[in-house]
Amino acid sequence: MAKDQPSSSRFRYLCYILVYLSTFSSITFIYWSYSSDFHVENMFRDEQQQLSIDLLSYRSAWNHLSFPSTPPQKLLKIALFVKKWAIKGRAGGLERHALTLHLALAKRGHELHVFTTSPPNTSFPEYPMIKSLFFHLTKPTAAGYLDQASVWNQFVKENSTGKPFDVVHTESVGLRYTRSRNISNLAVSWHGIAYETIHTDIIQELLRSPEDSQNHAMTERVTKVVEEVKFFPSYAHHVATSDHAGDILRRIYMIPEERVHVILNGIDEEIFKPDFDMGNDFKKKVGILDSKKLVLGIAGRLVKDKGHPLMHEALKQILLENSTFRDDVIVLVAGDGPWGSRYEDLGTNLLVLGPLEQAQLASFYNAIDIFVNPTLRAQGLDHTLLEAILSGKPVMATKVASITGSVIVGEEVGYTFSPTVSSLKESLYKVWKDGKQNLQQKGELSRQRGLTLFTATKMAACYERLFQCISYDEKQNHGYCLYKPRPVH
Ligand SMILES: *[C@@H]1O[C@H](CO)[C@@H](O)[C@H](O)[C@H]1NC(C)=O
Ligand SMILES: *[C@@H]1O[C@H](CO)[C@@H](O)[C@H](O)[C@H]1NC(C)=O
Ligand SMILES: *[C@@H]1O[C@H](CO)[C@@H](O)[C@H](O)[C@H]1NC(C)=O
Ligand SMILES: *[C@@H]1O[C@H](CO)[C@@H](O)[C@H](O)[C@H]1NC(C)=O
Repeated sequence: MAKDQPSSSRFRYLCYILVYLSTFSSITFIYWSYSSDFHVENMFRDEQQQLSIDLLSYRSAWNHLSFPSTPPQKLLKIALFVKKWAIKGRAGGLERHALTLHLALAKRGHELHVFTTSPPNTSFPEYPMIKSLFFHLTKPTAAGYLDQASVWNQFVKENSTGKPFDVVHTESVGLRYTRSRNISNLAVSWHGIAYETIHTDIIQELLRSPEDSQNHAMTERVTKVVEEVKFFPSYAHHVATSDHAGDILRRIYMIPEERVHVILNGIDEEIFKPDFDMGNDFKKKVGILDSKKLVLGIAGRLVKDKGHPLMHEALKQILLENSTFRDDVIVLVAGDGPWGSRYEDLGTNLLVLGPLEQAQLASFYNAIDIFVNPTLRAQGLDHTLLEAILSGKPVMATKVASITGSVIVGEEVGYTFSPTVSSLKESLYKVWKDGKQNLQQKGELSRQRGLTLFTATKMAACYERLFQCISYDEKQNHGYCLYKPRPVH
């Protein structure tokens, strides 16, 4: 299928465009996002006749804005509550977010106090290079949560020695709502809320085989949503990690607009980046023949929740029914879990690599033509997709709202499918027909968009600004809550 070439005119479909048309005294500012809605409601002209944005009521992801990379004018003392500090490799989304974000903030000079549980057997990591990072460890409760009474005592003590905290951050319910209630300079980041999960419950029920017993999660989930709607207001500020979650928090959870902020996840752009040679070496190492026209990649925990039964069935059917596909395509599978060996059983078209260290994973992304994530968990913002995107690869994923609303926002950057075998098969056939060159173009556009939105640097800059804005000190009105786009020359 002939597709027009990527050009600066196509690029506008992906990125927002800031255009300043300056005449003698006035500056006109046009903002256009992919969804092409104008965010005029959040903008107004300040005294200097320059258009400014009130950040707290800004509805889009803050990642769309650009914050200066110069050292912060004011260093903050930040408290972080997180159930578990990521030790190595295996960390889930929430823990990876906590690690990437707070190491970046500490490297920028902010004083970070991490309140977390002591790991059972392993020793706690040390960060000798970062002087302003402090850990306060406590024994986890039997259920593995933060012992609220102990961490609160530690927190109050630290708050009363030297300098009080400028801001408090909790990853999900690390700090429970019973304690967060009276803290106005606090933000909670949600990595999956019950309302989003209802979609997952519906998918799981549809995919359930008749011999499995019915899942009672569905009715319980609605009760869970109601509970959340009741206790969420006990947190002063909310960070949604996807545009969709932001909408739910405002609309379903009824949290006032100016207390809901969207900051999309970011990943380390120094590790995940295009490197042609690295990709080629990886292909040679794992033994991919040059005759293979298309390399698909899958990574992560190979479990049911992540959609592997679906992917397995779709590949099995295609490999059986189409010999050309069989000759053309190879699937690289990184990660471990029960579906690893089942993929292996599908024959030589699948190469199951086991779990990969971060550096190997970076090579893996460079070796593939497209990354496929068949996830059935409709929560949070998936990190693997962002890693593939920053590596310059197009992505293909299940149509869940966090992904279609914030990541795969159009056909220009990837493919989406419904969580059924037939839809996934159709999508796989389409990718194959579109071919390598087309995928490369999508990958490049994808990376351009990713570089403005999904880098760790951007995520840290957004949080830094939010923290400056909600800190106690901001009562002095330093203007951190106001965003003034500066003309670029
Ligand atoms: C920790 O170590 C103890 C004794 O060495 C062992 O019995 C236990 O299973 C270990 N726990 C974990 C979580 O590895
Ligand atoms: C932390 O200390 C400051 C200054 O003494 C105080 O105003 C604030 O209420 C304290 N925060 C908490 C949660 O105790
Ligand atoms: C929060 O403030 C209310 C009213 O000032 C007070 O009754 C309550 O004990 C406080 N809760 C906490 C956890 O400090
Ligand atoms: C495989 O699928 C392609 C695309 O749908 C089709 O053109 C081709 O005829 C099929 N080949 C076989 C052997 O079924």
